[in-house]
Amino acid sequence: MTVTVHDLRGWKAEGRRWAMLTAYDFPTARILDQAGIPVLLVGDSLAQNVLGYENTLPVTMEEMLHHVRAVTRGAQSAMVVADMPFLSYQVSVEEGVRNAGRFLKEGGAHAVKLEGPQVELTHRLVELGVPVMAHVGLTPQSVHGMGGYRVQGRGEEAATRIQEQASALQKAGAFSIVLEGVPAELGTRITDHLHIPTIGIGAGPGCDAQVLVLTDLLGLSDGKLPKFAKAYANLREEIADAAQAFAREVEAGTFPDPEHSYE
Ligand code: KIV
Repeated sequence: MTVTVHDLRGWKAEGRRWAMLTAYDFPTARILDQAGIPVLLVGDSLAQNVLGYENTLPVTMEEMLHHVRAVTRGAQSAMVVADMPFLSYQVSVEEGVRNAGRFLKEGGAHAVKLEGPQVELTHRLVELGVPVMAHVGLTPQSVHGMGGYRVQGRGEEAATRIQEQASALQKAGAFSIVLEGVPAELGTRITDHLHIPTIGIGAGPGCDAQVLVLTDLLGLSDGKLPKFAKAYANLREEIADAAQAFAREVEAGTFPDPEHSYE
């Protein structure tokens, strides 16, 4: 049985915490699903982590759809949320509805995620039966805007603005909300105030759920991790070691050996 928005609502009521991870392809989606991760986000961080773009802005609907399809083929129990890419939903409500619909119809996703206070579009999508995960605080699609790529909601005025956005998105029907890059105290305050689950990334331990980018969790990311991210493995090193071990055996003529050859 697939995890539903009702399950997540119930978990908040029970005080049960849960984890969300990004997933971008079939084999990792299958592993994460079988590992019991209840929600997989095909994040637009696909742009940097898989496609090699500098930030999330260039990734297109077609690229996102291609990866959403792979993840939905790999997930049996997890809810799959498709992140709407930059300018696929900000131009008009009509265009936002059409593109969100593509993720459900063509991609097999169960829900979409929208960055920023997209209150009108959230309301319309929910009315049409498209579950919406909201996302406030640091919103990477605004990297070149006033917000930039830094902690948001410092100071009472900024904190109140983010809390009001979160409340408005809940009222519009969002089933959950990502809080990114806000002080821990604000993460807790918004979590206590809302009846929908909050999913923190750099928002402190008071959120109902936490999300990490898979490449950060696995130690695959290049360079220094952001303060809020934690590597639980070092696959970069493991992959390099495996590749070098293979190359050494090929160069030495010890692979393939009789065990790996046909008679
Ligand atoms: O695209 C992404 O990876 C995200 C997470 C940071 C929540 O939106």
